[in-house]
Amino acid sequence: MNQITVISPDTAEKADVASNTRKVFIKTYGCQMNVYDSNRMGDALASEGYVTTEEMGEADLILLNTCHIREKAADKVYSALGRLRDMKRTRAEHGRELMIGVTGCVAQAEGEEILRRAPAVDVVVGPQTYHRLPQALARARQGERVVETDYAVEDKFEHLPKVDKAKARSRGVTSFLTVQEGCDKFCTFCVVPYTRGSEVSRPVSQIIDEAMRLVDSGVREITLLGQNVNAWRGESPKGGEWGLGELLYRLAEIPGLARLRYTTSHPRDMDDCLIEAHRDLRALMPYLHLPVQAGSDRILKAMNRRHTGAEYLRLIERIRNARADIAMSGDFIVGFPGETDQDFEDTLKIVEDVKYASAYSFKYSTRPGTPGAELGSQVDEAVKTERLERLQALLLRQQQEFAEGCVGKTIDLLLEKPGRMPGQLIGRSPWLQSVNVDAKESQIGDIIQVRIIGTGPNSLFAERAGA
Ligand code: 5AD
Ligand code: SF4
Repeated sequence: MNQITVISPDTAEKADVASNTRKVFIKTYGCQMNVYDSNRMGDALASEGYVTTEEMGEADLILLNTCHIREKAADKVYSALGRLRDMKRTRAEHGRELMIGVTGCVAQAEGEEILRRAPAVDVVVGPQTYHRLPQALARARQGERVVETDYAVEDKFEHLPKVDKAKARSRGVTSFLTVQEGCDKFCTFCVVPYTRGSEVSRPVSQIIDEAMRLVDSGVREITLLGQNVNAWRGESPKGGEWGLGELLYRLAEIPGLARLRYTTSHPRDMDDCLIEAHRDLRALMPYLHLPVQAGSDRILKAMNRRHTGAEYLRLIERIRNARADIAMSGDFIVGFPGETDQDFEDTLKIVEDVKYASAYSFKYSTRPGTPGAELGSQVDEAVKTERLERLQALLLRQQQEFAEGCVGKTIDLLLEKPGRMPGQLIGRSPWLQSVNVDAKESQIGDIIQVRIIGTGPNSLFAERAGA
């Protein structure tokens, strides 16, 4: 490890004096798991006297919690670090410290390389080791440039402070809760098995404890998170093994917890109990993010998805038999190596068959170290662009059709936050759409009945039912 930045005793003293009022700004890139992790890093740093700030300019510590899923996501980090280097220099000229840390999946994947490419960075901490962030910062303050990317032997969740109730409340009435991390599926395009490691499930008691703390602090809706959340396995309190379905039945018993969701799932891990949970649990919202990635069996095989298009469609039929009004969501990749026009038509066909309420779609991005990067027959960028446009046009049309199908319905709306107009709040429909309605701020956290009266580009409009 290089000893590069040696701070003067004078600066060190100032930092110590101000130790109770240090401010951290955390910039989150990528997925919801990173949002959860950023919050937990904030909690870990709070016990070291840091308060989180939304103003980058007033921060003493800036953390970039990064995403490595596609090339563009990783590039963004390096350009942000370039800007931060200038900021750090200006600060130094005014005798004020600015520490910079890179966390998340770019930290895990690039490690030392970040220190080489970005001289302003003080600490690099991977997703499995962020409970060690306070120690890493303390070492950096001694002048060391720290890289912490080993998979820790200890359970980071055991070493993180419990979720702070006041903080949880300030973050709103919905919350993420990570129950599972890592992935053993090894889709050939994906870096997750390398950056997040193999599948690890948090134990039942830890999850229930955290869910109860969140509910105690006013959270009404919890979204269980995992890179492969439906691969979650745990030991039942009565012995035997639980899957995600059983866990949802248990969580639905927590008084005051009105809504449950989970994301992201793999088709191969949708077991009977989980499907039955969609039939039985009022609290389990009728929304399912179940990526298929592509429609052609040849491409699905090359992607190592371990299912065919027909198997995916049969699965959706079973899920819809259990919960007819479920809104389907998915992820798609266009231009995987070797994808022909016909393969792409198969993707459009599966989208036509499923009818998605929402979806995310991407051009294939080569990730070093994944099997996909070794394949010949990479698809031309212009072809990828054209396919993505066609796919997105279809998905957008389906999203609008789904939204229009909601008009006239009376639904339960969880009021989440102030809207754009005074006197308006934004809530979430059971199908995860944003809904604008006239309501008072004191009603945030309430679930009210509204009638959908119109659609906008990214949200719905509603009036109070009975109004
Ligand atoms: N290129 C493009 N998209 C990717 N995804 C994962 N890896 C890649 C890649 N190399 C997409 C998948 C996944 C989502 C989170 O990101 O669709 O489900
Ligand atoms: Fe990546 Fe998801 Fe495939 Fe795992 S299942 S390798 S996280 S795309």
